Amino acid sequence: MTEQQYAISQYPDVKDVYQRLEALVRQPMHPIKPEHMQEYLHYFDVKCARSKALNLEAQKLIPGGVQHNLAFNYPFPIAIEKAEGAYLWDADGNQYIDFLQAGGPTVLGSNYAPVRDKVIEMLQTCGPVTGLFHEYELKLAQLVNRLMPSIEMFRMLGSGTESVMAAIRGARTFTKKKKIIKVGGAYHGWSDSMVYGLHVPGTGRLEAKGIPFGASANTQEFFPNALGALRAKLIFNQVLGGTAAVIVEPVGPESGTRPVPYDFNQKVRELCDEFKALLIFDEVVTGFRLGLGGAQGYFGVKPDLTIFGKCISGGYPMAGGVGGRADVIGCFAAGIGGAGERAYIGGTLSANPLSCVAGYYAILEMERTNAPVLAGQAGDRLTKGLQAIIEKHGLPFVAFNQGSICHLETSGVMLLDLHNPIRLLKGLKPRRHMMEEMGAAYMANGLITLAGSRMYTSMADTDDIIDEALNRFDHVLVACV
Ligand SMILES: Cc1ncc(COP(=O)(O)O)c(C=O)c1O
Repeated sequence: MTEQQYAISQYPDVKDVYQRLEALVRQPMHPIKPEHMQEYLHYFDVKCARSKALNLEAQKLIPGGVQHNLAFNYPFPIAIEKAEGAYLWDADGNQYIDFLQAGGPTVLGSNYAPVRDKVIEMLQTCGPVTGLFHEYELKLAQLVNRLMPSIEMFRMLGSGTESVMAAIRGARTFTKKKKIIKVGGAYHGWSDSMVYGLHVPGTGRLEAKGIPFGASANTQEFFPNALGALRAKLIFNQVLGGTAAVIVEPVGPESGTRPVPYDFNQKVRELCDEFKALLIFDEVVTGFRLGLGGAQGYFGVKPDLTIFGKCISGGYPMAGGVGGRADVIGCFAAGIGGAGERAYIGGTLSANPLSCVAGYYAILEMERTNAPVLAGQAGDRLTKGLQAIIEKHGLPFVAFNQGSICHLETSGVMLLDLHNPIRLLKGLKPRRHMMEEMGAAYMANGLITLAGSRMYTSMADTDDIIDEALNRFDHVLVACV
């Protein structure tokens, strides 16, 4: 196997990032000046009339008018009509530089033609689903196994959420233990047991509306990077029947918004070994984006189970999967007569031919083009440019990146947690609103970000595109001075 290359050219100085984030959150906010914000909001009324009309209609039938976690709701969601490479176009014909990239999976850029052609070919011969086995399931599993050797066996599923559910059920079946420990603030999908300590560390069941207590009674969280607290939980759990698994996003919660020190994953691995818990890496975002060997290849840490999401099909629908140790994955049932002793896991549209062919060719194309590394270079250029803009304007904002995952913290909302409940209570709403305003302002300037604070770059982001994006960011950030 050839030596893998990775998207991270230099691991962020995590201590320095936290110091700067702490300084950001200690001082008053620097939102966009009201007169500029009025101008940006005017953009939506004047230039996005069709999106607005569509959303008003959608609100009559679709709760809140949107169905995607990533959709921007402020001032109203924009309807997207066309996607190509680094760009999106909305229903009114406005063009945007797309740093959402569907939440991460399109490392090749949006709607990449060579993959699309293979999908069309599949649709013409087999259609999207038959309910039966297709050779591309095997080809994709072989490819993932070649790129990530920890994936001895692989089960394709329909989403990241489903895959986390499956991994947890499999871990409990295999270890015969119940407790699952996650990092506070991390998002691992919306299953009953994972809507716990969501977004804001320490908040436990705060968002668990409609979820009975029992469903998350065996879920626990520890504050980001608090290895001592993790150890304490593992010790305590021994008298409660033990810990089945610890689940982490290997770059840190929310795609590394709260970054981990470089050796964090190795230390979690050691703790899992000591307490005989399984280590689950949620690589929904990092898998293939950090490099074809995933975050596990980059950090050199071998998880027992790995979660895949939209990345496993290059962004095509019905995309998720769990891979890992053969003895653990062997506990997953599928097919008629597969249940009984084993964990019940599967679905009608799991591993359909469309998702499998898309994933197979998307990952092969990433390998052929070196897309993760190129996307990482674009991320470096974007981040360095943002840091220079921030410095030029003397703003307290913080930009850092893990390759093609770029963070631009302006409101500091992501630093709030239950360590400091008063600061959390006072700051959450206004700082969240500032983040919404920043996102809207970027969009009015032709930039689509994730929630106004995160950008995923892709292979399609040439130097010229990044430089143009930086001009636009400059235009928005200067309005905060
Ligand atoms: C790290 C992580 N895990 C799990 C999920 C859930 O994946 P899905 O939206 O496919 O259910 C996401 C979605 O963004 C994610 O970022």
